[in-house]
Amino acid sequence: MIKQLSKDLRNKISAGEVVERPSSVVKELVENSLDSGADEIKVIVEKGGKQLIQVSDNGSGISSKELPIAFERFSTSKISVFEDIFKINSLGFRGEALASIASVSEVKIISKIKNEDGAELLIKNGVAGNVVPAAALKGTSITIQNLFYNTPARRKFLKSPRVEFRKIVEMIRRYALSNPSISFKLISDGRDIVKLNNEDLEDRIVHVMDPAYRDQLLQLNFIKGDYAIAGFLGNLNLVRTRPGEQYIFLNGRFIKNRLLNSAVYNAYKSILNRGEFPFFAINIVLPHNEVDINVHPMKTEVRFKDEWRIYHVIKSAVEEAISPILKTIPDFEKPSFDNQFDFPITFIPKEGEVNPNQENFNLNTSSNVDIKFKPTIDRAKSYASQLASRPEPNSGKVDLENIWQVHSKYIVSPIASGLVIIDQHVAHERVLFEEAMAAFDNNPMAAQTLLFPEEMDFSPDQFSILLDVLPYLEKMGFRLKEFGNNTIMIEAIPSEMSWGNEKNIIKEMLDNFLESQKQYSSFQEALAASFSCKAAVKAGDVLNIQEMKELVNRLFGTKHPYYCPHGRPIIIQLSLEELDRRFERI
Ligand SMILES: Nc1ncnc2c1ncn2[C@@H]1O[C@H](COP(=O)(O)OP(=O)(O)OP(=O)(O)O)[C@@H](O)[C@H]1O
Ligand SMILES: [Mg+2]
Repeated sequence: MIKQLSKDLRNKISAGEVVERPSSVVKELVENSLDSGADEIKVIVEKGGKQLIQVSDNGSGISSKELPIAFERFSTSKISVFEDIFKINSLGFRGEALASIASVSEVKIISKIKNEDGAELLIKNGVAGNVVPAAALKGTSITIQNLFYNTPARRKFLKSPRVEFRKIVEMIRRYALSNPSISFKLISDGRDIVKLNNEDLEDRIVHVMDPAYRDQLLQLNFIKGDYAIAGFLGNLNLVRTRPGEQYIFLNGRFIKNRLLNSAVYNAYKSILNRGEFPFFAINIVLPHNEVDINVHPMKTEVRFKDEWRIYHVIKSAVEEAISPILKTIPDFEKPSFDNQFDFPITFIPKEGEVNPNQENFNLNTSSNVDIKFKPTIDRAKSYASQLASRPEPNSGKVDLENIWQVHSKYIVSPIASGLVIIDQHVAHERVLFEEAMAAFDNNPMAAQTLLFPEEMDFSPDQFSILLDVLPYLEKMGFRLKEFGNNTIMIEAIPSEMSWGNEKNIIKEMLDNFLESQKQYSSFQEALAASFSCKAAVKAGDVLNIQEMKELVNRLFGTKHPYYCPHGRPIIIQLSLEELDRRFERI
């Protein structure tokens, strides 16, 4: 028999989409507070929100006569016609959050608007009581108790209070990062956990992430057409070996989007290793009609009109912002910050509390956070001071009088502040990569004509790739003539390349090119990377002094002399200080 579901059941079903756990209640309530124009938001939780969640704000409030309707499904003050969804400035608009929450918990709301007395309403078992007068300051306070009391299956899915609390902290962190001017307070089981006052974004990041983030952030500020990208990125000290500190906001709303995250990772590509994740908090400002937020009830997934365009804008923005890192010679000991300190938020001891037992509020499941945490700060500090005293890239130029090759692999030479070690293969690779990129841009590379043109056969599919990339190969200095039957004649090769190897290099480039295309943002980059890798001198190639000098000179003429197109360091500096330290002179 088909029948209509009761209102209560409908609400419970849709609550399943919006209210997953205590942190989702916090999310909805904090969003409502932000939408109400509040500049102070206080969140109190008990037992990880399983027992109690209370969110209070000093926003506009709700008038006493509207209190009951605020808890009706599909009732909202934020939109009135469908088109409003495409010019939405508020976080909420579906008019279902309060109804959903009230269907699976016990709710008390006290609210007061300007020029009216405060009012209170209780909702139990999905049934609203009477609105009664209550003493209150302007704003709203909503208290949720016994979440999922009437849906035991859902309640069973909740994790321990500690884990649920962590999720709440993470939720608060998102809103704190996207609203640095708003004061946030979080109190858990009677303890002040978070206390944030109006501040700028950089200070806010330091306060919600970790004090060690101070001085480790690179500012991002980029405008292209009607897109604006702003925020902060972490430098290499803030790189972690697991994800979790990547924040992308779209017009102030936290969103999850793998493609856009990968735009940031790819911009870092040349300096990050696989499995390393940089910190970032980025706000993308787009015209409202370029994005559809109404894709999912939680609104963290959105649909863009042109995702790839945004991808490229973000990538360029990040590349620009991290360029200072690329201009610094990597140290002999690369700072590796793989410590997993994820206890972030400032702990504020209660009055009279001198030696707080960290275990009680520690959000990390492992108890030795402190031990790991300390060196991180020290290292971060020393890195920051090193950066300040680091020679400018140009003063890092090597003294070409004294230059040696060791193990037919590395070039060693003194510089003012110590000595540098250069990997000859990646150095040449960087030079060739940039030259190839410039060649595509109308600055063709030099070619050497072969005395005896060579014939080369291809399989039909390889041949069709070859035809695609032929114009680019020609700009790199290859001259290839079609000879019919999937065959070409090689008439000239880049003068950079040694003879005799051309067939191999062309073959490998075509193989590689297809593989590498996924990693690079453009066809040209993939081709240039694959060419430079194949054509560069190898480890094991003996270089004479003249060749070494020329290579080093050309390397310093490139845009990024310190990192190869695949992200490995090209030059490592061993400072006098480091030497002194190793010999225990200091
Ligand atoms: N803290 C608050 N201060 C002022 N008004 C509030 C507050 N919380 C809720 N409201 C009012 O109650 C209405 C219903 O809230 P609810 O969260 O259910 O829906 P919404 O925010 O409009 O949309 P969504 O379901 O997308 O969150 C809001 O539109 C708003 O007018
Ligand atoms: Mg809402």
